[in-house]
Parts: sequence; C-alpha cells; structure tokens
Amino acid sequence: MTREDDFPILSRYTYLDSASHGATPRRVVEAEREYIESKFTDGEDWPRVLSELFRSKALFSSLVKVKRSNVAVVPNVSTGLGLLLSSLNLKRGSTAVASLHNFPTSLHILTNMRRRGTISDLRVARNNTIDEYERLIDDSTSVVCVDAVGWLSGRVVDLRALSEIAHDHGAIMISDMFHACGVIPVDIKNLGLDAAISGMYKWLLGQPGVSFLVATDEILEVSDPPLMGWFSIDDSVTQRFEKNENPFFRPLPLLDAKPARDASRFELGTLSDSSVIAAAAALELMNEIDEHARHSSIERLVKEMADLLSSEGHTIYTPLDSHKRSGIVSIKIKEAFEVSSRLRSRRIICSARFDLLRTSLHFYNTRDDIDVFIKALREVLRG
Ligand SMILES: Cc1ncc(COP(=O)(O)O)c(C=O)c1O
Repeated sequence: MTREDDFPILSRYTYLDSASHGATPRRVVEAEREYIESKFTDGEDWPRVLSELFRSKALFSSLVKVKRSNVAVVPNVSTGLGLLLSSLNLKRGSTAVASLHNFPTSLHILTNMRRRGTISDLRVARNNTIDEYERLIDDSTSVVCVDAVGWLSGRVVDLRALSEIAHDHGAIMISDMFHACGVIPVDIKNLGLDAAISGMYKWLLGQPGVSFLVATDEILEVSDPPLMGWFSIDDSVTQRFEKNENPFFRPLPLLDAKPARDASRFELGTLSDSSVIAAAAALELMNEIDEHARHSSIERLVKEMADLLSSEGHTIYTPLDSHKRSGIVSIKIKEAFEVSSRLRSRRIICSARFDLLRTSLHFYNTRDDIDVFIKALREVLRG
C-alpha cells in the first residue's frame, strides 16, 4: 500500500491542511460506507454502533493514557467544553485564566460565564510564558483553560508547568488538545491535567460529530452536570449494554435518575452513527502507528518547512524554538486569502487565517510536499 492508496486525496493534491481537517483515510471511508449501506439495505444496527462507541472510547483512552471510565464522547469540542465548565461548582467571585492563543470557543464559553456571573473575571495570557502565568494565576483563580497548541501559531505550551502553578493555587487545569492529539505523544496524567478535550476530524483523521472529553476521577467527583439525558444517567441504556445486559429488559430509572459516576455523565444522547464508526476506524489506525515515530517525522517536516520559509525571507509566526512547535507552520503574509486560493488552483491546500498562511504537516506528508509548496508560493508571490 502506498500513502496515496491509504489517503486518496494525496494523489490529487499537495495536502498541507490537517489543522483544518485531516486527510481522510480510505479505511475510515470504507467503514462508514459499509455501515451506511448496511443501514440502507438491512436497517439500523444499534448494538454495533454502541460497540463501536465503546471501542472508540477505549482506543482514545489508550492514546492519551487514561482509564476508559474517564472518557466521554461528545458531539463537538464546544459542547463538551461548555458542559464541563458549567458542571464545575466554582467558588463565588473566583476568576478564570485563559490564553489569547486559544481557539475562540473556550474564550466565548468563559466570557459567557463572566457575563452570567459564574466567574468574576477572565484573565488572558498574551505571551504564554510561565512568568506571565505566574502573574495571572493566584488564589482567586478557580480554573485555568489553555489550549495545548495554538491553532494559529502551532505553539506548544508547557502544560506540565502550568498545571503545577494552577494546582499550587487550588485551581482546576483544563486543556483543549485538538492540535496535540495525533501529533505529540499525550499523557494526560503526566501533564497534570484535570480535564482535556479533543475532536476527531483534524489530526486524529476521523469525521466531525465525535469528540472526546477526559475528566479525572477528582473532577468526576466534584462535577455537577447542569444537563442530564438518557445516556448520562447511572444505570443508563449504554451502561447496561456495556455489561451485556438487554438495555430495555427492566425499567429505566426515571424520576430517581442520577448522573452516572463515570465520564458518561457528560454524554446526553444519540450521536451521529457514521461519525462513531469513523472514529473507531481512525483511532484504530492512529493506535497502530508508534506515537514517537509519528511525532519525530512531523517534527522533522515542520523544521524543514520553517527553515525553508525563513530562507525565502518570510516572517515565521510559529515559534522558532523547536520544542515549542507542533504540526503547524504559519507565516505572516499580505493577501493571505488570495495567496491560498491561488495555491489551491495549483492543487495545493493550506489555509488562510487573517493575515497568516497556515500550513500543517502530518505523518503522511513528505519532503516533496514541502518543495512543491515552496516553489509554488514563490511563483504565486512573484505574480
Ligand atoms: C483548538 C480548537 N478547538 C476547538 C475547535 C472547534 O471545535 P468544535 O467545532 O468541535 O467545537 C477548533 C476548530 O478549528 C480548534 O482548532
């Protein structure tokens, strides 16, 4: 099998956009197609979807090294993060700390919490240095929410150091790891995180519709979910199914229902079935690849891309320190949208964000992809 067989888009485009959406593996599409076709001809297979849901939780938990009972499946990062943050009984008048490098959704959730009086203030880091966080986090801080990797810069934050500062002040440490999972080896406990989240459709090569929320036992103990649904209760149909019990054989808890003790307390109801099938297939693939080998090939490609772009005279927006880099290399550029659309007409896909041209490199990219991009960029800029 060649990489073009496994990822058909790679035979048609120079694909440098995994930070927007990963190249979809053939295996994922085949699993989805087979499932949809069998639904079309033979009807829904709910037990199969639930088994794939449990399998995807198990595969994700092994990827980030937590227990399966600490993982919930949610439809997207925004919903999961919103549910988690609103389930925490934060001290009255406490403050939150976040970073301006975060993807906007966490800032929107926290801004809304400030508007509703759940937190008294939101402090934002601009430079992401440990000194800056030491100034922002104090005993009034109840929650620190910082993305593991900046969505524009690709900057990797030292989460372990940040968790220590947060914990020294009794604050909860949460991270959106969408641009870390699948790129950098992730060990949630080792990083000291209390909760984390990632979607499937970028570096983990799944589809939109499934994201994973991780909550440690301590967070599960103190969280009080504001919403409850038939998947999130203790003795739910999904829990019964997982124990090989017919979920509808005995009555379900109704007026005496309580939130589940494990992370399924954040799962409210039915998810997109084909996205669940896709998630299991994609995570199976990701788990087959050694995470350190995958990370070193991405690191090497990112260094080559950054070095070549600087030698071409571009202003690199991504940190120059190699240990602060992930899979993203962005440059400041005038007319970023015009440039990216011209590149696209040459069958090169990357993304324009504000005044940045963002390229992203995954394990399936090659040095050839970089050379093709650099040459085309030079020509496009020359007009
Ligand atoms: C870091 C990060 N978090 C969250 C999101 C949005 O996730 P969702 O649409 O699943 O809420 C994105 C999308 O680009 C992102 O880059």
